Amino acid sequence: MCGIIGYVGKNQKSLDVLITGLESLEYRGYDSAGVAFISDDKLNIVKEQGRIRNLKEKLDFNMPTNIGIGHTRWATHGLPKTVNAHPHNVSKITLVHNGIIENYEEIKEKFKTYNFKSETDTEVAACLLNNLYEKNNNMLDAIKEFIKEAKGAYALGIINTDYKDILYAVKKNSPLIIGVGKSENFIASDVHAILKYTNKYIVLEDETFAKITKDEINIFDKNGNSISYVIKEFNEDEKVCSKGIYDHFMLKEINEQPEVIKKTIESCLINKKIDFSKYLENKNIKKIVIIACGSAVNAGYVGKFLIEEYANIPVDVEIASEFRYKKVFINKECLVIPISQSGETADTLEALKIAKSYGCYTLGIINVVESSIARICDDVIYIKAGPEIAVATTKAYLAQVLVLTLLAIYLGKKNNLINEKLEQELEQELNLLPNKIESLLENKDYEKIAKELYSKQDIFFIGRNVDYALCMEGSLKLKEISYIHSEAYAAGELKHGTISLIDSNTPTIAIITKKSIASKTISNVKEIKSREGKIILVTSSDTYNINDSDYDYEIVIPKTKEIFRPILAIVPLQLISYYVAKLKGCDIDKPKNLAKSVTVE
Ligand code: AGP
Repeated sequence: MCGIIGYVGKNQKSLDVLITGLESLEYRGYDSAGVAFISDDKLNIVKEQGRIRNLKEKLDFNMPTNIGIGHTRWATHGLPKTVNAHPHNVSKITLVHNGIIENYEEIKEKFKTYNFKSETDTEVAACLLNNLYEKNNNMLDAIKEFIKEAKGAYALGIINTDYKDILYAVKKNSPLIIGVGKSENFIASDVHAILKYTNKYIVLEDETFAKITKDEINIFDKNGNSISYVIKEFNEDEKVCSKGIYDHFMLKEINEQPEVIKKTIESCLINKKIDFSKYLENKNIKKIVIIACGSAVNAGYVGKFLIEEYANIPVDVEIASEFRYKKVFINKECLVIPISQSGETADTLEALKIAKSYGCYTLGIINVVESSIARICDDVIYIKAGPEIAVATTKAYLAQVLVLTLLAIYLGKKNNLINEKLEQELEQELNLLPNKIESLLENKDYEKIAKELYSKQDIFFIGRNVDYALCMEGSLKLKEISYIHSEAYAAGELKHGTISLIDSNTPTIAIITKKSIASKTISNVKEIKSREGKIILVTSSDTYNINDSDYDYEIVIPKTKEIFRPILAIVPLQLISYYVAKLKGCDIDKPKNLAKSVTVE
């Protein structure tokens, strides 16, 4: 939800490292940003509302400094104003924080006499830590007691002005890595923030903390015992994180989808066969429960319809933030599938822990390797989407849908519902999907359709069964990057009230890829047309025969096996949303109020 960076060393200009890191972390939140650093033995804190560029204008990059921390914020407590921006300082302690201190009000009560400047839980954390330091006169003991007292999720980067060459880091339920350099070391919310300087990193485990100088890294458990650690190497070329020829990361990532699909398919084949036997061969699955948030839930719904139809296994899709607080009906015979691009979504992480407490086998569908969710799943199917920078997911969602589709085929085979012949046909068609996505990317109709939509206030998406699941993602994409209100609606449900909202100024995107129910959705399309509603149809050539009078625009996806149609049909929805947002001049890669990884409740 927020981005943290820290540096201690003499090889770089600290402020360069901090700002470079924050720019790479801006996808995690960009309400405000700030840095704290020691220069000429003095603590300097500079922070500014809005994007990193606003902060940069206030900095003198020639100031000599060998230690600093930085933060880019997605507001959880307090408005996105400069006074609430991190770092926060209380006496000797200055810190940046990603997460939520859940008992901050209770802690704040203990410091009634302290004049808090901000509305944040983070300033309360700084006050508590400073108080514990003054009481113990020992930083490691102070941190130990802090971990005991502070509840919730926090990744902290800390400077104590009594030790101006030491960086401290604390981690609990919020991502934090230590970058390992030569006579310099780093901390960051993710490894991409420091790839310019080193690809060696240490993943801080929960309830551990670190004391870091330019030459030494010591890590301790919550009781203050020194613990060993493994230095990993990140092997991804940092150039991956550039827009290349595209105006936005989102458009770049949409165009990467053919490659992503190819790589993800290859990772799920053994001897050219779809094979998940290493996870599922000896599992007698009575029910599948998918837990996720946002677009990952939407992918889950596509998976539900496909697995139920092709493998005859009941699938419950649970919104993770709901799952955590409801009565759950799961047991050892359930396969629980957490889906998460970042692998850091707090609600999904906590829902996963609940599933594990029931003894369920947990098989994650995750993009980020070694992420928090990946690390506690029993097994993980990694999608091969690569780093996804745009806040609105596209290629990762598509890869999630692909893996769920392949799982439906594998489980269908396992349950003797897909025979050898059909399996071969499906596996042959798989190889054609990347090219079919390429052909969709070349379609020029999206911009024309976007011109029809970008000035509207409300837009509906309708579909049935798996097409309804696609509507959920199409609607979310449009909302989150163009700020136009839209709703995904079960096509047959529209006439039970909501159709009263349809008029000539309220367009509907109808998705019809499932042949057996196409005529039913066509009837709903006619009901809309008869009320002067504009229709944009996304369909496949062999699904139906419809009169030209029944739609205003039509996008026909390439012919493919019905089970693979969701993988193709989502691409037009992504691009229509992209061009609508572009016409509106929206900040497509970093939409307002959003963050790429929601690591707080
Ligand atoms: C996707 O476009 C959204 N930005 C958001 O809904 C996202 O899918 C959701 O927060 C889940 O994230 P995750 O996949 O990293 O868990």
